[in-house]
Amino acid sequence: SSNQMWGGRFAAGPDAIMEAINASIGFDKRLAAQDIAGSRAHAAMLAATGIISDSDAETIREGLLTVLSEIEEGRFEFSTALEDIHMNVEARLKEIVGEPAGRLHTARSRNDQVATDFKLWTRDQFDAFEQGLLALIRALVDQAEAGAAWVMPGFTHLQTAQPVTWGHHMLAYVEMFARDLSRVRDARKRMNECPLGSAALAGTGFAIDRHMTAEALGFDRPTANSLDAVSDRDFALEFLSTASICAMHLSRFAEELVIWSSAQFRFVALSDRFSTGSSIMPQKKNPDAAELIRAKIGRIFGANVALMTVMKGLPLAYSKDMQEDKEQVFDAADNLMLALAAMEGMVKDMSANVDNLEAAASAGFSTATDLADWLVRETGLPFRDAHHVTGSLVAMAEGKGCDLPDLSLEEMQSVSGAITEGIYDVLGVHNSVASRLSHGGTAPARVREQVARWKEILA
Ligand code: ARG
Repeated sequence: SSNQMWGGRFAAGPDAIMEAINASIGFDKRLAAQDIAGSRAHAAMLAATGIISDSDAETIREGLLTVLSEIEEGRFEFSTALEDIHMNVEARLKEIVGEPAGRLHTARSRNDQVATDFKLWTRDQFDAFEQGLLALIRALVDQAEAGAAWVMPGFTHLQTAQPVTWGHHMLAYVEMFARDLSRVRDARKRMNECPLGSAALAGTGFAIDRHMTAEALGFDRPTANSLDAVSDRDFALEFLSTASICAMHLSRFAEELVIWSSAQFRFVALSDRFSTGSSIMPQKKNPDAAELIRAKIGRIFGANVALMTVMKGLPLAYSKDMQEDKEQVFDAADNLMLALAAMEGMVKDMSANVDNLEAAASAGFSTATDLADWLVRETGLPFRDAHHVTGSLVAMAEGKGCDLPDLSLEEMQSVSGAITEGIYDVLGVHNSVASRLSHGGTAPARVREQVARWKEILA
């Protein structure tokens, strides 16, 4: 039989394959609560503007609440023949309340409904994203505070470069996640306009009050252009692109945790709660959560590319292509929230191996730059020459199989006569980091200032 929503124009129902490709109810049932909230706001507005009677609006309101509890309690029978959540809800409303249900769709279309529902859902995800980031940032600031003075190797090219502090490394991620947070808040503000009442594409001749529905649904204002309102998926794309950048940050940190927890590095011990064992190798403790976080970027970035590709080239206004928006965002959001929570848990639980960090920081000639800087400061040597002298000393130490502080003063003086006993002060890793007091530098004093700044921001 033909569809009850548009049967007037149709003699035959759809082919089974048509129904399968067309239906979105399998996934857009996740928008049920938003759909019902939108319908309630719309019905109340239709009554307030005199377009439907107060008693019809009340009947609709009660019916929608019944539908909502049926869905929430798992008693609702979703029908593929009814295509999507919007028609499933309305058809059930009709079964429950009869004729007044047919008045609900005055001055609106599914195009406004889906845009509104999906925006409401995505807005909640932006809020969850914000909370997830804040929790992670707090955990990182706590780590930074604990280890403001712990020394570890800083790397470039994953080769030992200079000693840095643990706190400084943690705060580097705080900066990244705080930029993510700012992107989330910015996008959330921009997307908060209500599409409801666009009436498919052109607006309506009914004297509706779009400000009223916008306000009821927590939007800042109604959208200004009905064509744009039903065609816009920027909000979903901003969610996905913001999520992609954040997932990239998460993935970099996850990669570091995988490396740091290895037997070769032993910088950190991950907690049992965020590790797994091996079924064959009894000694193993694997950083699976970190690995999965590292991998999640794939599907989140994939969702971003997929939806960009769906949207490119679509003429205004709505096209059914846009039905492909939701699964991408659902999947990306689910996995992002999981990754954020897992990272927060790992960061909270992990313990730094302070001795190993310091030993690693001291190896690999990590204070060579301090040595060169000392020559510039104390002997007036141009930096390029100091660099050369230091290079020769590194080569000497490497030849002897020792570290820079192990070279005797005589050995050092054989390379440069200007070197004095004072050089040994700067070859220690603690002095090295303590000296890096420039704005944004790694010195414990600077880290503590930054920790205090973040605590104030987060308070
Ligand atoms: N299920 C549709 C979607 O997800 C809802 C809007 C359908 N509108 C239409 N005119 N066919 O996009």
